[in-house]
Amino acid sequence: MAFPPEFLDELRARTDLAGLIGRRAKLIKRGREYTALCPFHNEKTPSFTVSPDKGFYHCFGCGAHGDAIAFLMQSEGLSFPESVERLAGLAGLEVPKPTLEQAARAERGAILHEAMDAVSLWFSEQLQSDSGSGAREYLTDRGLDAATMAAFRLGYAPGRRGALKLAMNAKGFDDEVLIEAGLIKPSEEGQAPRDHFYDRIVFPITDRRDRVVAFGGRTLGQSKAKYINSPESPLFHKGRMLYNLAGARRAAHDTGEVLVVEGYMDVIALAQAGFQAAVAPLGTAITEEQIGELWRLAPEPVICLDGDAAGRRAGYRAGARALAHLRPGKSLRFALLPEGEDPDSLVRNRGPQALRQLLEIALPLSGLIWLMHTERRSFETPEQRAGLRQELRDRVREIRDPDVRAGYETEMERRFDEAFSYRWVSASDRKSSGRGSGPPKANAGAQKAGRGIRTPPSQQIARLEWALLSYLINHPELLLEFAEDVANVRLDNRDLDRLRGALVDLIAGDPTLDSEGLRCHLEQQGFAAALNGLLSLDVYDLFHSARPGAPLDEARKVWLPLLEHKARRGPTNPDAEGGQTATTASAGARR
Ligand code: UTP
Ligand code: MN
Repeated sequence: MAFPPEFLDELRARTDLAGLIGRRAKLIKRGREYTALCPFHNEKTPSFTVSPDKGFYHCFGCGAHGDAIAFLMQSEGLSFPESVERLAGLAGLEVPKPTLEQAARAERGAILHEAMDAVSLWFSEQLQSDSGSGAREYLTDRGLDAATMAAFRLGYAPGRRGALKLAMNAKGFDDEVLIEAGLIKPSEEGQAPRDHFYDRIVFPITDRRDRVVAFGGRTLGQSKAKYINSPESPLFHKGRMLYNLAGARRAAHDTGEVLVVEGYMDVIALAQAGFQAAVAPLGTAITEEQIGELWRLAPEPVICLDGDAAGRRAGYRAGARALAHLRPGKSLRFALLPEGEDPDSLVRNRGPQALRQLLEIALPLSGLIWLMHTERRSFETPEQRAGLRQELRDRVREIRDPDVRAGYETEMERRFDEAFSYRWVSASDRKSSGRGSGPPKANAGAQKAGRGIRTPPSQQIARLEWALLSYLINHPELLLEFAEDVANVRLDNRDLDRLRGALVDLIAGDPTLDSEGLRCHLEQQGFAAALNGLLSLDVYDLFHSARPGAPLDEARKVWLPLLEHKARRGPTNPDAEGGQTATTASAGARR
């Protein structure tokens, strides 16, 4: 048992250190200290000192060092508690016993853990039993193999009323324990207590040390609530725990990578697909405590967001929440999933490499914050732009760490200037200024037409199409080399698909065209607005190698899979964004 620190302080203060050591060594007073021949090694001249003021001894010869408790341990071979007992006896102090309440609480905790363990085992036995056949089938249909089910200790809470209570009572756990553990609900007037989980697949939730502390339960179809969780209990605090934390910690240790997904099934499917370091919050938005926990696993956890507006909003909330706590080297990244997919369905439908690709282009937090304040908004007037600048400043001020905050200030200014600088620089000025990575100078026409911020679509899947073309314009070598493949692929976005066709025609007509040449021609053909969106930070943020001047082989490595992905899928939804995104690089923000 741990001694209260105040007691140990009191004990040290009341102990006469010189007196204690003086029984073992002949002390010679030197000012406020003593010297002696060291009792712990043989010596002729004294190198051992005792400092009663500071409360410790030290030997310059053998390095022996410590306080009164350590002295007894070292000189008499006592254990720590034994030394404490002895000193307390000498000082006339009573060693504090754990209070009844403390002892009771510790014992109670142990019983709850035992109960959780026993129930978890019972649930997994039920899954393997006859009554669990439907649940087993369901999990198999969802692609889980037996090893995965076992690794996650999946179980089944049968649909027989009171079955859990009965089984656990038989193992010696009384109702009071089962209620406290959140396994059964207290009885209403004259009724028996009811099982909390009833005809559900159960997912044991474990703590950092991999002890079961709660369960999540998924209905097999009938119940209105798809998932329910154990209620809060002495063992279970929703906002502090993460599903699969212990498993992810082991994996993150090897890879330095942690993924955050939404659901139990996502975590499990990812583990089976080779991403063991995935965790999920427990049906709530991610909390600051959980973010802190994540940073203990990896410097930049990647939060996977559903590709719809709700998913992005969840990302914005998480990002905003993290700001105050950012420290040098600690951040978050955000992977936007294609619309209609969650991580589970993504790896099942498109394979692990599809997720790998999204992780590689995950948005940094600074990019997410920018998106959060600019998405679907119009910045046509100076007032609107000033408003944006103000919002960004306020947002950045939430960052407490001064170095990180300064970095964000610079970053947001840069983005702001990149987005709006064309409004302040005339087309002829730009020609001579020759800026490197921003929108190309040939965009002057677009700038006249385009009033708003360049806004490529924020859905990742659509971004792929923007990126695909962005590479081709900045790296015409790819266009030349793969002209035929580019000619055969079809893009969902009609405007982008027309631009693709134009590119193919241009390079066929003149294989020597360089990036600038392509841009000029495209501009003349009326693609100015689309170019503005294609050649923008919003694309480059996700696809670094699409930037002008990026090494060609790096560009090829990322670009080829994009092309293959498109070629494989073909056009799925030709009218999905037709006429909207590309031409509204200028006006799209206006809604
Ligand atoms: P989702 O509705 O996204 O479901 O809930 P899912 O995880 O994809 O589940 P499957 O694939 O349909 O089985 C995500 C998470 O939100 C919580 C759960 O923690 C779930 O894993 N949730 C969801 C609830 O707590 N209650 C609900 O009714 C639904
Ligand atoms: Mn799902």
